[in-house]
Amino acid sequence: MNFPALKNTRFLDALALRPIDRTPVWMMRQAGRYLPEYKATRADAGDFLALCKNTDLACEVALQPLRRFELDASILFSDILTIPDAMGLGLYFETGEGPKFTRTVRNMQQVEALESFKTTDALGYVTDAVTAIRHALGGSVPLIGFSGSPWTLATYMIEGGSSRDFRHAKTMMYQQPEVLNALLDRLSDQVAEYLIAQVDAGAQALQIFDSWGGALSHADYVTFSLNPMRKILDKLRASCPGTPVIMFTKGGGLWLEEQLSAQPDALGIDWTVKLGQAKQLVGSRCALQGNLDPMILLGDRDNIKLATTRMLDDYYQGCSEQGLSKTGLIANLGHGITQWTNPDNAKVFIETVNQYAI
Ligand code: CP3
Repeated sequence: MNFPALKNTRFLDALALRPIDRTPVWMMRQAGRYLPEYKATRADAGDFLALCKNTDLACEVALQPLRRFELDASILFSDILTIPDAMGLGLYFETGEGPKFTRTVRNMQQVEALESFKTTDALGYVTDAVTAIRHALGGSVPLIGFSGSPWTLATYMIEGGSSRDFRHAKTMMYQQPEVLNALLDRLSDQVAEYLIAQVDAGAQALQIFDSWGGALSHADYVTFSLNPMRKILDKLRASCPGTPVIMFTKGGGLWLEEQLSAQPDALGIDWTVKLGQAKQLVGSRCALQGNLDPMILLGDRDNIKLATTRMLDDYYQGCSEQGLSKTGLIANLGHGITQWTNPDNAKVFIETVNQYAI
């Protein structure tokens, strides 16, 4: 496909640890309900899933945050739960209760009954959105594609929706690990195929959201969350070697060394981690992305500035102490922006990053 040349390479440069003029910044869930224009477009579409499936409107909401803020990357507008939906579980959203599935996966027959799909057929609306957004960006900033990690997707499929304690998923882990492994194997193959299809459609970087890896013990994290992600990363390196991959395990800050063994281009980290310490640990082996607590955006603007500056100081001090060049940070929140955020507060975070001299 023929796309316009990229004008702002800051995000890709930081990912590759090349020199940068300032820290690139974007926000997880930057297109979403904290923006009144998002809510208006969602109302036009009917509901959230209809919005994801409408190429023009999905493209419109992906661009909305870029009109308001000086961001260095855009992200596909979709959801991680498109994969279990395409596998036949029947995804729907109950207002105020988050995602739900009409069917769950709790035994081997149910794993075997999951549908196999080809992304460009069953999830053609996702790849269409990727291509449309890439064109609409006109080379202004790069486009990130994404998927959930196999473990994170499995939790929703086993529980039938969101969960506090992952009781059913963990019961499966400890009573029928062979069923969980079979499910994770199926998901690893589908996620890899899904991400490669997004790259073919125009995605210039990829992020794997392992939102619930941090709910596991160390050993179980390696077996059931990290190892399936490693398989995906191996396949991505073989099929699209030029496309950088960000691996984000929320709550995984104690396991950065283990995560590095999967050879991601960047590790996403949440706010429980001290950035300078994380830099000490990874050195120049990969880039880092994060990590302001999104709840800080619910508070005072002076404090948003202060906390953002501290975060950047901490990272770049870590670089100086090790004699490493000042690059390799992608400023972001430590998790998705909440719907309760005032967009002007998000702007303070972004402007503070943009004005910070490295
Ligand atoms: O970052 C972006 O702007 C791109 C869009 C994006 C969405 N979901 C849109 C969305 C991305 C990257 C996701 C990822 C996602 N989805 C994750 C991983 C990241 C994370 O937050 O840990 C997870 C776990 C999901 C599953 C999911 N989708 C949940 C739990 C919910 C409900 C959230 C809630 O607060 O009710 C969704 C719905 C969803 N996905 C919305 C958006 C904008 C809100 C739906 C709406 O408009 O009503």
